Parts: sequence; structure tokens; C-alpha cells
Amino acid sequence: MLLNKMRRKLLLGNWKMNKLASEAREFALASKPLAELAKKNNIDLGVAPTYLSLAATKEAASKDMIVAAQNVHFNPSGAFTGEVSIPMLQEFGIDWVIIGHSERRAYDNETNQKCHDKMKALFANHMVPVYCVGETLQEFEEGRTKEVVGRQIREGLEGFTAEECKDLVVAYEPVWSIGTGKNASSEIAQDICKFVRETLRELIGDTADKIRVLYGGSVKPVNVKEYLSCPDVDGALVGGASLKIDSYEELLRNIL
Ligand code: PGA
Repeated sequence: MLLNKMRRKLLLGNWKMNKLASEAREFALASKPLAELAKKNNIDLGVAPTYLSLAATKEAASKDMIVAAQNVHFNPSGAFTGEVSIPMLQEFGIDWVIIGHSERRAYDNETNQKCHDKMKALFANHMVPVYCVGETLQEFEEGRTKEVVGRQIREGLEGFTAEECKDLVVAYEPVWSIGTGKNASSEIAQDICKFVRETLRELIGDTADKIRVLYGGSVKPVNVKEYLSCPDVDGALVGGASLKIDSYEELLRNIL
């Protein structure tokens, strides 16, 4: 419990392929008092807009607001049509990146190996990956959650030192709960987030106690508090409920 209190809570909105840059900017301006409120309460608050909205969001938001990218390429430049590199993000002051979101794993062939390569490049640039892991419905029903999540953690983080991983954030997002309204029970969230931390401990020792592990998947203002009251759940990665400023504000107020 004491260790849990050492980890700052984190509420991160994942906007996916939503919002024009103008809408992102409007949200960012409206979120300024929320960033202040979060800071006062020792909570890290952030959003992950599309690439095209990153600059507008970063410029309009409070400097205390985390503005994360949803993806990045592991090469600094080159013949990779359609990709965006770390230096391109850094030029806009972006130093957080979501890695391995289940939608990218499903639609863009984002393997554990690719996630590993991206995180290696992020660590080398002192940036923060939010590494997403989680099982599909079939894997869940077959009782294979820990096998799948354990492999995602081990393969994704293979060979990294505790020092490299010190700012890492992991998000446990059961695929069957994302955007479905079928959220995992807080018992499941706690059990798997604890398992994530135990697996991290095998890889990086006691640094695992400093790593924030988030739950994601149909997190709403009504259930966010229950998740965050679990000892191993340090925050939430929120899709749908992070899109409207009112609901985003409610999420924050409910975990103060
Ligand atoms: P959701 O999405 O909150 O809409 O379920 C979560 C996510 O994909 O990060």
C-alpha cells in the first residue's frame, strides 16, 4: 500500500482517430484548469491526439498536461512512407508515446518485437512509452490471459535494464473490453496488473514497484474510482470517455 502511494496516479486519454486539430485545440484550452487541479492533487493528466493534432494540442494545453503520440517509428529517418520518427515528435516537445495498442496489434501488425524496437529507441531518447498489453476474448475464455500478457511483457521488454525502464508505463487493456462497454471487473484488473508487476519484477527487480501499471477498457466516470482503488492499478488509459471535456473532467474529479 505504501509503495502504491509512491506511484503518482495517471489518467491518460487515448483519442484514437478522433478530433480535428481545431477540436483538439479547443479541448486542450478547456483542459487547462483540469491540469492545474490534477497537479495540485499529485495526479498526472494527459491525452494522446493524432499526429496531426499533436502540435495544436501541445501549444494550447497547460505545460503540465502530458501530450502523447499514439505511435512512432523506431528509425530516426529514412524510406518509411507514412511513418513519423522520434526526432519529429521531439521537435514539438512530445516525449510520451503509446506503444502496442491492441488496435495497432490487430490492424497494423504491431508485434512484440516491433514494440521492443520502438521502446528501445524511445528509451535511448529518454522518452516514455506507454506499453499496452492484453488478451483477446478467445484467449480470455481459454484462460490464457497470463500466458499472453506475460509473453507480451517479456518479449516487449527483453534485455532492457532497470535504469532504461524506470519511466516506463504499462497499460493492461483486455481486448474484449475496449470500446465494448464490457469492462473487466476490478478483481480481474487488479489480478492482471499485479501479475504485470510480478513479471516486471523478474525482469527489472525492485524497479517494478516504481512502474505505473494502468487499466484500460471501457473505463468511465462511474467505474474509474473502483479501478484506481486497486493496489496495483495506478491509473487508467481511457478511450471513449476521454473525448468530451465534461466526461474527462468527471473522470479526473472521481479519482481526486
Ligand atoms: P475505451 O478504449 O475506453 O473506449 O474502451 C480504451 C483504449 O483503447 O485505450
